[in-house]
Amino acid sequence: MALWDTQVLCLMFLLTGAVSQRVIYSDPVCGVRGSTVTLPCTFTPNTVAQDGGEVLVEITRVLWCQNHQICQGSTPTVYDNTLLNNPNNPRYRYLGDTKGNCTLQISGLKEEDDATLRFRMEDEQKLSFYAGQPGVRLTVDDETQMKILSSRDGELERGEAVALTCTTECSFHQLEVTWFRDGHALPYTGPSLHLGPLKAEDSGNYTCDLKNTVGTLSHPFSLNVEAGEEEQNPHTDCCSVPLIVGVVVGVLLALCSLILALCIIRRYSDKNQSAVREEAGPKPDDDVSSNVQQGGAIEAEDDVSYAPIQFRARSQARPVEEADDAIIYSSVVGRG
Ligand SMILES: *[C@@H]1O[C@H](CO)[C@@H](O)[C@H](O)[C@H]1NC(C)=O
Ligand SMILES: *[C@@H]1O[C@H](CO)[C@@H](O)[C@H](O)[C@H]1NC(C)=O
Repeated sequence: MALWDTQVLCLMFLLTGAVSQRVIYSDPVCGVRGSTVTLPCTFTPNTVAQDGGEVLVEITRVLWCQNHQICQGSTPTVYDNTLLNNPNNPRYRYLGDTKGNCTLQISGLKEEDDATLRFRMEDEQKLSFYAGQPGVRLTVDDETQMKILSSRDGELERGEAVALTCTTECSFHQLEVTWFRDGHALPYTGPSLHLGPLKAEDSGNYTCDLKNTVGTLSHPFSLNVEAGEEEQNPHTDCCSVPLIVGVVVGVLLALCSLILALCIIRRYSDKNQSAVREEAGPKPDDDVSSNVQQGGAIEAEDDVSYAPIQFRARSQARPVEEADDAIIYSSVVGRG
């Protein structure tokens, strides 16, 4: 009975010990070929009874292997801390320790890295060893298409700012991003392209790509910078200025023509008038009437053009010799 109890206790202790050691992996990781990925990982070593208490087994060997359930024996490893400088695969770097961190970093991802990886720990005497399940799935994407996300929806106006982000579901850490506008490379590398204050020239079709990789060029992202109100007004002004100038010039030309026409007509009418005066003939006793006539001519400075014609018509209809007074009268009336 006492022996059975001890056996049960012993079994329970073993089970508890087995449960206490564990490895916790991250969710599946996806990386673009050529990039650097990190596989977060933590572990807890087994415990042993010592001095009436429980202490953690001292782990001296930590290793990672691909596609093997327990990574034991001669299974090839991608990392093994007992081998100097990890000759198996220098691209695999152990960022962890022998206490509880088993994080692994892989750079320059290749297709051969696409695997399920497991971590194994061992103590000095190999009395305690353990490979964590289920492992971590690492996927290497060698033809991922990048896509561009915009920080802003809808229309963009001049002077505003926008950030375009080049991204993909898979990690592309350590890979350089290249940007293009309408197929021309932009002098900027980085996952986020900040534009602003926006100018009309920023409009175009943007694409991004990962350097030194194939098949990653994104679909074009069309960016349209609308002319803001501050831009529309000068535009209107620019077109209305020639219009105004045209109108002004036209009006001036019309005025000039009118003035010219008036001058010509006036000169013509003056000629006619002098002709009429000469016809009437200067008489010695007619000085007063002659003055009146001249005064009338001065008064008629602003007169209309057909007044002399009217005068002439009358003078023709009526014989000039009829009477000097009549001529003077009609002249004054015609011009008044
Ligand atoms: C494990 O080590 C890595 C690299 O030093 C570190 O980034 C991470 O935070 C550590 N994890 C824990 C749980 O301490
Ligand atoms: C962007 O692409 C679309 C369709 O491919 C095209 O209609 C448009 O003219 C392009 N814009 C520029 C600025 O090239």
